[in-house]
Amino acid sequence: MLPYALFHKQFMPLSEAKIGILTHSFHYGTACFEGIRGNWDAEREKFCLFRVEDHYKRMLNGCRILKINLPYSIDELCQLTIELIERSGYHEDVYIRPLAYKSSETIGVRLHDLENDFLIIVTPFPPYLGTKGIRCCTSSWRRVDDTMIPARGKICGIYVNSALAKTEAWENGFDEAIFLTHDGHVSEGSGENIFLVINGKLVTPPSSDNILLGITRDTVIKLAKNELDIDTVERRIDRSELYLAEEGFFTGTAAHIAPIVEVDHRPIGNGDIGRICTKLQKLFKRVILGRNPKYSGWYTFLAKL
Ligand SMILES: Cc1ncc(COP(=O)(O)O)c(C=O)c1O
Repeated sequence: MLPYALFHKQFMPLSEAKIGILTHSFHYGTACFEGIRGNWDAEREKFCLFRVEDHYKRMLNGCRILKINLPYSIDELCQLTIELIERSGYHEDVYIRPLAYKSSETIGVRLHDLENDFLIIVTPFPPYLGTKGIRCCTSSWRRVDDTMIPARGKICGIYVNSALAKTEAWENGFDEAIFLTHDGHVSEGSGENIFLVINGKLVTPPSSDNILLGITRDTVIKLAKNELDIDTVERRIDRSELYLAEEGFFTGTAAHIAPIVEVDHRPIGNGDIGRICTKLQKLFKRVILGRNPKYSGWYTFLAKL
């Protein structure tokens, strides 16, 4: 099985999809993307695309910020994604990476007077952070502010901020970094949202603290409320609350729900994977495979393979 792409409005093997070295977005980060999972249910032998419309809605928001007009509706984007997976023939979890970009081959930093293009890549993808306990540090890098590059869009250039934090964490022996905002409040991981359990409730940073409004974040808030009767408080979080929380975990399409067991060399709770996190992981696993009919609006099943 080969990784496959939609490129220049055609389906082709990924190895044949090439951009020129002068492409604007390659030089200036002027692109935005999504990360969507196609979850392979081996028992039922079918793919479930999870909240694919929500991913494309968010991508179109990023396009608005970057002044990229895409010639596709959300429905058409979903259809192209389905066709790409069908053509690729995978029978395992896949990651779908749509990318809208400034495609003009020209020098000059700006957003205006440039051509746009769009591509989608599909490739196999196991869990990103693992589901065992994650050891984190607070990053010495601060999260980019909305007045610098808006985190509301998955804008390529912003991921330099993430890459700096991730590699710093990794080189210092941690699994992941936790960003603080410029004024010292907890924001998110390098590619995940963060939740804490404090006094039995879920607490997560608000959108105004420069987070990506994660689709997994929203899923977890709804599952916690509907299935476990646990409320989520969206509020500013101080750094020291990381050390005192009963539990902590990351959420993301790539990371799923990844328990945090240590921050800055301090165990979270008793240093084991938390009770609420474990319950949410179980619920989440079922839901992303499309097995909970209550959430049928979140699922797109692939009809044929
Ligand atoms: C910076 C950042 N925060 C949070 C997330 C989690 O978002 P989602 O759950 O929609 O994948 C991601 C992943 O897309 C991310 O890149």
